[in-house]
Amino acid sequence: MHNPGDATAAVICGIGAALPSRVVSNAELCTRLDTTDEWIRSRTGISFRHVTGADSSTEDLAVQAAEQALAVAGATSVEAVVLATTTPDRCCPAAAPAVASRLGLTGVPAIDLAAGCTGFLYGLATAVGFISSRTANAVLIIGVDRLSTLPARDDRTTVPLFGDGAGAMVLRRGRLEDDGAIGPVVLGSDGTQAELIQAAHPGSLQMQGAEVFRHAVDRMTSACAQAVAAVGWCMNDIDRLVPHQANARITSFVARQLEVPDSRVLGNVDLVGNTGAASIPLLLAQSASDDRLQAGQRVLLTAFGAGLTWGAVTLTWPELAS
Ligand code: COA
Repeated sequence: MHNPGDATAAVICGIGAALPSRVVSNAELCTRLDTTDEWIRSRTGISFRHVTGADSSTEDLAVQAAEQALAVAGATSVEAVVLATTTPDRCCPAAAPAVASRLGLTGVPAIDLAAGCTGFLYGLATAVGFISSRTANAVLIIGVDRLSTLPARDDRTTVPLFGDGAGAMVLRRGRLEDDGAIGPVVLGSDGTQAELIQAAHPGSLQMQGAEVFRHAVDRMTSACAQAVAAVGWCMNDIDRLVPHQANARITSFVARQLEVPDSRVLGNVDLVGNTGAASIPLLLAQSASDDRLQAGQRVLLTAFGAGLTWGAVTLTWPELAS
């Protein structure tokens, strides 16, 4: 017989996403960069990305995605907000309190978290902590980035890769055996490789692409193996692999090394590019709404980003309101 005090798991009950309306095609990039549609698609799998204009901010995108996740959860409030981003609108103060207030949540704990493109998975671990420490019974996590602001405008090696977007998830207190319960969250970092992706300010991104590629494949592959072992599954149990969407070739290498067939791998990098901390919740929200992701499926999330940072986690996708 369980008592309510046993319920320390964090369980997904809502998901949402937001993309800026402006779409930039490879053809448009070719008008201002020395590149080709064929080069970008064959090296990255990307054809389009969404980009914010002057009319929309990181906080605006975050609010839009959060409103959708709260609506799906049937919730008007949560008791904590975690916002993962590398591209806040300002250095200080953090975006999370402002976003919380715009959602009518003034007063709840609200923090920003910077872990590059792994930010959403660090956010999941933080939400699990808020719930198990009894700080909150329900937590909103937002992954939001405007990575299109980081490259120099004329840098053909980085501009094509990045887009803007937001994804959000609501987690409630529940039990580990519930569908939607977050499994053991595997996380890591390596600051000795910090210079592989760095930007002192918007417009100054420096990236050593080939090295980043190699680390991304190695780190995501091993984090996935650890996360699956930690929950007591085997790789063949995974119905859906949901990798951070940086590059379609990185995803293929990871899936091949893990021996997960292509039919079980979700992706949207062709249409949105690399949206940073938004990548995983955005892909989950889109896949849940078009039935590529269904209740009862065993899911493995994995991410890699600047820092370097990486992570992976398992869960069983829950039934959610549409
Ligand atoms: N169009 C045409 N040519 C381009 C180009 C572009 N957009 N970008 C780079 N090139 C050129 C380079 O200048 C280089 O030319 P050179 O051989 O004359 O010097 C050539 O293509 C190969 O460059 P290289 O960087 O070795 O290519 P690559 O095969 O490694 O692909 C990336 C580059 C960026 C696509 C790839 O390294 C990558 O995806 N890395 C991971 C990046 C990433 O995902 N970062 C975020 C992690 S969260």
